[in-house]
Amino acid sequence: DYIKIFSPATIANLSCGFDVLGLCLDNVGDEMTVRKIDEKTIRITKIEGADLPLETEKNVSGVAALALLHEWDTDYGFEIEITKNIKAGSGIGSSAASAAGSVFAINELLGRPYENKDLVRFAMQGEKLASGSAHADNVAPALLGGITLVRSYDPLDIIKIEAPEELFATVIHPQIELRTADARSVLKQHITLQNAITQWGNVGGFVAGLYTRDYGLIGRSLQDKIVEPIRGLLIPGFDRLKIACQTQGALGSGISGSGPSVFALSRGFETAQNAASAMSQVYDDMKLPYEIHISGI
Ligand code: HSE
Repeated sequence: DYIKIFSPATIANLSCGFDVLGLCLDNVGDEMTVRKIDEKTIRITKIEGADLPLETEKNVSGVAALALLHEWDTDYGFEIEITKNIKAGSGIGSSAASAAGSVFAINELLGRPYENKDLVRFAMQGEKLASGSAHADNVAPALLGGITLVRSYDPLDIIKIEAPEELFATVIHPQIELRTADARSVLKQHITLQNAITQWGNVGGFVAGLYTRDYGLIGRSLQDKIVEPIRGLLIPGFDRLKIACQTQGALGSGISGSGPSVFALSRGFETAQNAASAMSQVYDDMKLPYEIHISGI
């Protein structure tokens, strides 16, 4: 008994929704193979493409799997093999893909006792290990697809929103690693009422724009007065990237998750491609190596 899965990359925050909004990329992700074994244990047998710990308790997919099996007791176990295509510390949910993928695959092999939404809380344990915070804004879209909103963490209340068909994402990754824990440690713990007003207006506007397919409203809502001014300083050429995709007609842009990847959302594949060329040009000019993806949602 085994299953082979694609575990997608994700863009968390989407500018206005720190720790609550996220979307799933449909063509960037890891591959995982999970096998049922007689022994009652979780074993990580192979990780290709990344230098990550194989010890179950130190591995995000291992920890997420243990959280699931802690609740759903079995008299057998599982073996996990991972091919990482998503780089750690790139800002497109590398740890989330490992955590979400492992609980998704195990749930399938168990005969689906849980709905995908119920798997989020197990996958969050992997995120906790990776970054010190059990945020769900990457694991939720990885498990549910499309765009997700974490309406509440306690109790966990996750809302899936179908992405408008014409929405495409461009993501550029300067080839540097930024650990989520570090990118979180620089954030202020308090915000002003004025910034809070701007931010919740934008979250509401973004969600309304998604439901009504109002691309202008989606674009106007992609703003972040709270996290971006601080984290933007850690990303080479950040302001130039934002201007570059804007001149090509992208709806809006921002930091992907905790960075250093930068994303743009566009209406239509062609605009997403033009945004990709303009963003690439910025790093070509700066003589910086990068990786770029264009993806549906
Ligand atoms: N919401 C999280 C953060 C996502 O921005 O720290 C991390 O991928």
